[in-house]
Amino acid sequence: MREPVLEIKNFHVDYGLGADAVQAVRDVTLTLHRGEVLGLAGESGSGKSTLAYGVTRLLPPPGVISGGSVVYHSPGGSYDVMTLTDAELRKFRWAETSIVFQGAMNSLNPVHKISTQMLDVIKAHEPDLSPQARTARAAEMLKLVGISADRMDAYPHQLSGGMRQRVMIGMALVLQPQIVIMDEPTTALDVVMQRQILAQLVELRERLGFSVLFITHDLSLLVEFSDRIAIMYGGRIVEEARSSDLYKDSLHPYSEGLLKSFPALRGPRRELSGIPGSPPDLRGMPTGCSFHPRCPHAFDRCSTDIPLLATPSSRNDPTRSVACWLPGRTPVA
Ligand SMILES: Nc1ncnc2c1ncn2[C@@H]1O[C@H](COP(=O)(O)OP(=O)(O)O)[C@@H](O)[C@H]1O
Ligand SMILES: [Mg+2]
Repeated sequence: MREPVLEIKNFHVDYGLGADAVQAVRDVTLTLHRGEVLGLAGESGSGKSTLAYGVTRLLPPPGVISGGSVVYHSPGGSYDVMTLTDAELRKFRWAETSIVFQGAMNSLNPVHKISTQMLDVIKAHEPDLSPQARTARAAEMLKLVGISADRMDAYPHQLSGGMRQRVMIGMALVLQPQIVIMDEPTTALDVVMQRQILAQLVELRERLGFSVLFITHDLSLLVEFSDRIAIMYGGRIVEEARSSDLYKDSLHPYSEGLLKSFPALRGPRRELSGIPGSPPDLRGMPTGCSFHPRCPHAFDRCSTDIPLLATPSSRNDPTRSVACWLPGRTPVA
């Protein structure tokens, strides 16, 4: 296994305080390794964006981080992102980690040329770079994402949606960050474009060596492009595995349901059936395993005890973990 670059441990996020607080992220422990593409999948409302906003400390109120640590291992040393000052955070966010959030392609400023917007980012974070070096960096980055030099002076409205999206990836990479987080970087429905972006990121990652956390509700995309996948349900990670293992041999009934909800682009065909019922309402979270009301295999214990994520007794493999009470899926006692 490669060395860790971001270690999220026992991370909790609530919306609101006190008795009315909604528990959106619960006890998430997740590690991103250097140079890997880690996919995070789960239905809408499972807490994926809340986790991404939380670990980068961009959570808007009433979001509150109510526990956990996020250790970032930089070439210069390791530190807990939760303890950074505002000034340190600003540097961490662009230079070390860059984030493209849901709907980001609409966040390009319509009145400025894309070259200007890119140069502004470089100028703000690397003020010592000469104007020539900045222009060269911007041009190089746009070329890398497939935008030719003659389009550099275009305004956002002069570009197609796909090109604007590539500009956003270029912006995210222009400071050569260690970590790139993409949270459903196109609209929820536009999976074709997400696929293009993910393919491009995987290719760039090989050349530039950054790590990617790619968030989507579409598991089939991740099966195809990511090294590992974490599945989120009701604010918790319920399964984590190498993509190929998850696809061939998923252990959590929810992962199984998600795999059957999206047509796979490669590999053997599966019957599409989806998951009956709907995601839990955080205000009235089911007791025990929050998936139990929708689970075809649930038994008594599932409605009373919360299963913790751990390596299951039936798979002697530390790269696999699952949170489920079914036989063989509980940890070795
Ligand atoms: N500002 C907010 N106030 C209260 N609840 C919120 C807020 N934002 C998100 N939530 C709740 O947190 C849960 C997780 O949301 P989110 O992280 O956006 O999920 P995902 O990205 O997986 O779709 C949802 O149930 C949502 O209703
Ligand atoms: Mg989201």
